Amino acid sequence: MLEGDYLMQTQGGGFIHQSQDGVAGSTAEKVSNLSINGGSSDGSWAASAPNLQKNLGILSSEHIELAKMLLAEGQSHLFTHWPEQGVDDEEKKSFFDQVTRLNSSYPGGLASYIRNARNLLADSKAGKNPFDGFTPSVPSGEVLTFGDDNFIKFEEAGIREARNAAFVVVAGGLGERLGYNGIKLALPKETTTGTGFLQHYIEAILALQDASCKLVQGPCEAQIPLVIMTSDDTHARTLELLESNSYFGMKPTQVKLLKQEKVACLDDNDARLAIEPQNKYKIQTKPHGHGDVHSLLYSSGLLNSWHDAGLRWVLFFQDTNGLLFKAIPASLGVSSTKNYHVNSLAVPRKAKEAIGGITKLTHSDGRTMVINVEYNQLDPLLRATGHPDGDANCETGYSPYPGNINQLILELDSYIKELTKTHGAITEFVNPKYKDSTKTTFKSSTRLECMMQDYPKTLPPSARVGFTVMDTWLAYAPVKNNPEDAAKVPKGNPYHSATSGEMAIYRANSLILRKSGVNVADPVLQVFNGQEVEVWPRITWKPKWGLTFTDVRKKVSGGCSISQRSTMVIKGQNVFLENLSLDGALVINAAEASEVKVGGSVQNKGWIIEPVDHKDTSLPEEIRTRGFRIEKVDQLEMNYTEPGKFCFKS
Ligand code: UTP
Repeated sequence: MLEGDYLMQTQGGGFIHQSQDGVAGSTAEKVSNLSINGGSSDGSWAASAPNLQKNLGILSSEHIELAKMLLAEGQSHLFTHWPEQGVDDEEKKSFFDQVTRLNSSYPGGLASYIRNARNLLADSKAGKNPFDGFTPSVPSGEVLTFGDDNFIKFEEAGIREARNAAFVVVAGGLGERLGYNGIKLALPKETTTGTGFLQHYIEAILALQDASCKLVQGPCEAQIPLVIMTSDDTHARTLELLESNSYFGMKPTQVKLLKQEKVACLDDNDARLAIEPQNKYKIQTKPHGHGDVHSLLYSSGLLNSWHDAGLRWVLFFQDTNGLLFKAIPASLGVSSTKNYHVNSLAVPRKAKEAIGGITKLTHSDGRTMVINVEYNQLDPLLRATGHPDGDANCETGYSPYPGNINQLILELDSYIKELTKTHGAITEFVNPKYKDSTKTTFKSSTRLECMMQDYPKTLPPSARVGFTVMDTWLAYAPVKNNPEDAAKVPKGNPYHSATSGEMAIYRANSLILRKSGVNVADPVLQVFNGQEVEVWPRITWKPKWGLTFTDVRKKVSGGCSISQRSTMVIKGQNVFLENLSLDGALVINAAEASEVKVGGSVQNKGWIIEPVDHKDTSLPEEIRTRGFRIEKVDQLEMNYTEPGKFCFKS
């Protein structure tokens, strides 16, 4: 989430374009002229960096070219501490190996990065408003109500289209706010079953694949691709998670990992690259943001191969939203029914809530775009354009601007056309934390960043950009905040913690069952890790059991009831609940070919939620971050491993 002021590059000034501009009158330019005109074989071009000049003998011709570029871009400080040739020579070469990587992983190279940074830092210092000349208005989109005819119709359309989709999860983030030691994809989405986020995502995609294929006459070979964008912080552990779990049932060829590179950090407004405090031969780097996903997909060649295989949609999502796949079928149905090129998933947004608003921006020169405007920018933008109340609720009790949850559905054809123009470059921004109001020095180094949801910024006005709003309880419960920070969230705002993320799953499943006719007891309020949450019965099911509302409705009948202290785990596709009365814990495992009817009264001591102290380091981190653990006291567990029809009635 972005906080404080930050600045985007102006529209139309994408970084490929801007890299050609240079910065008039800067030191960099003077050095640049010198390097171009100066001699090269005698090393006089390096006169501005005498310590580099003394080391030219150890550098390869590629390194020399990069050294010239660095001096041309005002980076001579990188060499001031270099000792004589013969001392630390290997470290000096590895410095240039890093520069080589930084240079090749950024469109236009490191010189382009430095120039873009200088421009953005100058704009930021000048307090330039990226929305100058734009007037906001409410864009058009689809607002869905869970379970009504419209919703069901879109879900059906979404399931039909799912076999033509590819999924992309951006999972390269540091997760600094959560502070978890492992990767977020490995975290359990809930602790009743311990299913991790990645496992759940894969099982949901496989369930979509099966359900979609069943609608095809004749054989269906569809294998929905999954791309995981990783970074140096997450790559090895993501691969290990997949490999040690046999890809959670997916074919290894279905899954592709694309690793994003970090970008160089910047020490000052002249975009001098920051050196690592612990290693003077290393440039400090940080993640560039999830916007990298577009250039990585473009350069991987995957988009064209998907296109050739007949795919139509690319769905982007984040690492820790346990509810997302409940919203996918209907949203994909909206994309296909309305032929949206871009469909942003959204939830109703309370005014001033800390999520961006999806906004139509119309420029005085006629340009328009439908884009996410960060919450801290929406209010000033509205006030500056004739809305004296700024970011305010309308008669519905919500902001008229839907809340962006950063899950996007892009139509593949138009996506490829756009990326062919931009090569996946996304409008960047910089967010320096200044030491004081002179804005001359930073508290710590900064870097350029880009966001995946800024993709529509470069689209032509003919692009069909819309949104799909769904209830928050159904669609959005990310795990981003550590217990201490979550406990400080003002009352009424979402915690976005491991505690709330897990409880949201039980709530959603309970509400879906209620809507399907099951008498699910009311929740109780409990406090874990300083956060007050609703505790509903701990109901979980595998995606293949209840992918859509229609699926769930078909599988429950009669007067089923579930008490608040109950736990129900359904692992099996063809499990039918008929007149079931549950007060305790029930676990049903059923193989693909077993059809099981479960009814009657099931009562036992069940599984109990025990609060734990998040400071108790004897407990695993996954438990501490939630503030509770599940004590499995007693349960009825059913296992059906053989094909056939079975009926259980107690
Ligand atoms: P978050 O906003 O949750 O950021 O990213 P984060 O980096 O994971 O966490 P903090 O801000 O350090 O606490 C949203 C999504 O974008 C991915 C994350 O993995 C998450 O799925 N992401 C973020 C990337 O893939 N790359 C990045 O450079 C940044």
